[in-house]
Amino acid sequence: MNIQLSLAPLASIECDALVVVAFEGQMPVDLHPWISELESSKEFTGKTGELSIIPRPDGMKAKRLVLAGGGSEDKAGPAERRRAAGAALRVMKSRGMKTVAMAAAAGHLQLTAEACLTADWEPDEFKSKKDDAKSIETLILAVPGGDATLEVALNKGIVIGEAQNVARALANQPGNLLPPVVLAEKAAAIAAECGLECEVLDEATMRELGFGSLLGVAQGSAAPPVTIVMRYRATGAPADIHLGLIGKGVTFDTGGISIKPSEGMEKMKYDMAGGAAMIGAMQALARLKPCLNVTAFIPSVENMPGSKAQRPGDIVTSLAGKTVEVLNTDAEGRLILIDAMTYAKQQGCTHLIDAATLTGAIAIALGTVRAGAFTNDQPFLDRVLASAGAQGEKMWQMPMDEEYREMLKSPYADMPNISGGRYGGAITAAKFLEEWTDGTPWVHLDIANVAWLDDSKPHLVKGPSGFGVRTFVDLVMNWRS
Ligand code: BES
Ligand code: MN
Ligand code: ZN
Repeated sequence: MNIQLSLAPLASIECDALVVVAFEGQMPVDLHPWISELESSKEFTGKTGELSIIPRPDGMKAKRLVLAGGGSEDKAGPAERRRAAGAALRVMKSRGMKTVAMAAAAGHLQLTAEACLTADWEPDEFKSKKDDAKSIETLILAVPGGDATLEVALNKGIVIGEAQNVARALANQPGNLLPPVVLAEKAAAIAAECGLECEVLDEATMRELGFGSLLGVAQGSAAPPVTIVMRYRATGAPADIHLGLIGKGVTFDTGGISIKPSEGMEKMKYDMAGGAAMIGAMQALARLKPCLNVTAFIPSVENMPGSKAQRPGDIVTSLAGKTVEVLNTDAEGRLILIDAMTYAKQQGCTHLIDAATLTGAIAIALGTVRAGAFTNDQPFLDRVLASAGAQGEKMWQMPMDEEYREMLKSPYADMPNISGGRYGGAITAAKFLEEWTDGTPWVHLDIANVAWLDDSKPHLVKGPSGFGVRTFVDLVMNWRS
């Protein structure tokens, strides 16, 4: 889908369909005489999900004028606007439209471009027959009377939308085709293409450095582990700030010896969605060139059972020197993240954000609507939440009371990797990670409940969501020291 900007009057745009998102009580009645009739007959009133098509509208070059309901404009935040634009795009696509125009307000151009790109994406990479009949060739984003500076907003939208789709394509790779080394190759190719530095720590290097906690998880798999490091450096960036983005990169999670039930296990190919989000975000940052030094760290392993696999009760020594008793080999994400967090601090990071498909418990707590957000530094999380809100990526702050820390006790090592009780699993996982921050400002996002959509939404196909990319890019672009 090629995206163009048009500043011309809507009536002059030649296309198969011109989409206008209309809000309740705010019909664009000047566009066509039928619109007020549609409203008074209640055929189209602008409610969310409504769609009305006026074929061959007189006075317009478009073959169809399409009204798409946006709901009540007072309640329309960034998430609702994206949904309206994306849903309309998917309907146009399913009806075989080739050239689609969409009207956008100047202030919403970036968001509209992002929403259309992410709505257009399909997880069909491994299908030998793609549905070419149903692909939009050209999308014209129309801002009548706008000025040429809008190209900047459009470019941002394209860069960010594409980055989110890169993250989705990675999370969509099956375990056999994306072992850690292949994830690293893909990250390196992206880095080379957009001018980032990429370094891959291999198994021997990690052994030398002392990544004992990560290597314990990796030892059960024939696929060697890696830690991917992607560096973005900005000239004139503040010298005292260095953001570390850490993404869980478990390319497949069987659970190891504490093996998972087979039902639904195929979904554990997306256990690297946090890492994928960081790779996508780094691609966007390299293209947008914000004034902040950012490094992504993606610890990547496959979690397998087998004769070489880590056993329940094993004790490992993390890079920070603290020991961990591995009571459950399925709580592997935290074991690889702590070594990456310590390494990020050794590399000079002053602020850490991790994104991880860490616990099933976060879905029990929050359903599939909002990711769980945890912190040891409230002002830092407030900034992340502000970016998330602006980007329509829903998050919810979770508690971090010391009582949860007290649920983590090992008689034999410094820490166990799981708590004794069944309750509060997402929080005890966060408290475990916190032990490795040593006071460095840190935000942890448990995205296990939002990184994969089990059902399609009107604006997004089911499958990997690319959650997090937009928030991380927004945070860096708007960083204020
Ligand atoms: N990757 C899983 C978490 C997960 C579950 C992600 C469902 C996406 C969907 C993680 O490694 C895991 O297995 N967590 C365990 C932790 C438990 C053993 C304390 C869990 O949530 O069951
Ligand atoms: Mn697991
Ligand atoms: Zn996992």
